[in-house]
Amino acid sequence: MVGIGYVGLPLAVAFAEQGVDVVCVDADESKLDALREGRSYIEDIPAETLAPLRERLHPSSDYAPLAECEAVIVCVPTPLTNSREPDLTYLLGAAEGLAAVLKAGQLVVLESTTYPGTTRERLVPILERDGLTAGADFHVAFSPERIDPGRTDYTVRTTPKIVGGINADSTERARALYSLICDQVVVVSTPEAAELAKLLENIFRSVNIALVNELSQLCDRLGIDVWEVIDAAATKPFGFMRFDPGPGMGGHCLPVDPFYLAFKAREADFYPEFVELAGKVNQTQPVFCVERIERALNEAGKPVNGSKILLLGASYKAGIGDVRESPALKIVRMLRERGGEVSYHDPHVAELPDLGLASVALEPALAGADLAAIVTAHPELDYARVVEAAPLVVDFRGVTRGIEASNLTRL
Ligand SMILES: NC(=O)c1ccc[n+]([C@@H]2O[C@H](COP(=O)([O-])OP(=O)(O)OC[C@H]3O[C@@H](n4cnc5c(N)ncnc54)[C@H](O)[C@@H]3O)[C@@H](O)[C@H]2O)c1
Repeated sequence: MVGIGYVGLPLAVAFAEQGVDVVCVDADESKLDALREGRSYIEDIPAETLAPLRERLHPSSDYAPLAECEAVIVCVPTPLTNSREPDLTYLLGAAEGLAAVLKAGQLVVLESTTYPGTTRERLVPILERDGLTAGADFHVAFSPERIDPGRTDYTVRTTPKIVGGINADSTERARALYSLICDQVVVVSTPEAAELAKLLENIFRSVNIALVNELSQLCDRLGIDVWEVIDAAATKPFGFMRFDPGPGMGGHCLPVDPFYLAFKAREADFYPEFVELAGKVNQTQPVFCVERIERALNEAGKPVNGSKILLLGASYKAGIGDVRESPALKIVRMLRERGGEVSYHDPHVAELPDLGLASVALEPALAGADLAAIVTAHPELDYARVVEAAPLVVDFRGVTRGIEASNLTRL
């Protein structure tokens, strides 16, 4: 395994649970130390799961032990550059490290989300550099990860896994590998099909979230309750899939993946306007949320400047502590630009070092705030109590539905 983060660690654990020895290579020493001590750094993997597997998980900062492995799975980050283009630095770095130790007979699988063509055009040439031929001397496939942090109803085992190899032998080996840990392996004909299937899954979500986010803005103009509309539409038993509006899109995948596809499309002189429009709508949703906060304060005769604003939740998603691309970060920055005194409470996020903030105690913060904004629907919070204790509440997640109070407004 190369990269033992949100994706790599659960996979390593799944293989280890099947009795497979897993070399866990990572550039981050703190993760390797945690593994050595049987400590988990991923909320979905409790220490009780990890501890009994210590004998099977072999942390290493060095690629050399990978030479002994039958298969190597690469799960490194695929973020964006500052100019919103695919940043393959981690992936290419991992490929270089792996090329130096690659042995004939090995299977290499890329799991990092990326644009179609990455496996064949970017990974394979580096791996072939020292004279081995992909497809013949070693095998290569792409298999997208579908992990959804915080989800408990579907696991690595019960979530079907897509595999697409660069030739039939590669595909078959990848299928056999994942059959050890997944009940259903879905074979596609090429790595490109597997790469694009993953982007489709995420862009499908991005587009639908953009649709309901835009609807929330329209409903605000028309004075219609967006939640009531969605609740009603969702009673249709076919042809409708529910998505909820919110303060914007976060996480490592949804805000990033459309740009990967747009990049590849541009190479083919194609402009996926639908995909880019969804990204744009979702990126501007935090601006709309700040406007809602401004309006709520204004109606109470207060400017943002100098007001104490408490954000409830900093992570991008309920029940987890991941703040990557979280809309809360944008909201904090925008409120500060307007002179707001911003604090936050999040049971999953102790600190936001880049913003110089630490999670504050809930009750005194509610009492001392001019306004509390519900940004993440963490299940631990008692929202009725929030509405009771804070002078003004703006709910961007619909968690106060059913509560009517003069100090409360919802998206
Ligand atoms: N987090 C998710 O929910 C999720 C879901 C599906 C797919 N993905 C995709 O999976 C990939 C990995 O995401 P993640 O969330 O696990 O990221 P992560 O940051 O949690 O983990 C990646 C790990 O790779 C390590 N790393 C980086 N470069 C390395 C190198 N050259 N050699 C060894 N280790 C290196 C990092 O130190 C880190 O620990 C991304 O492409 C992401 O888009 C993520």
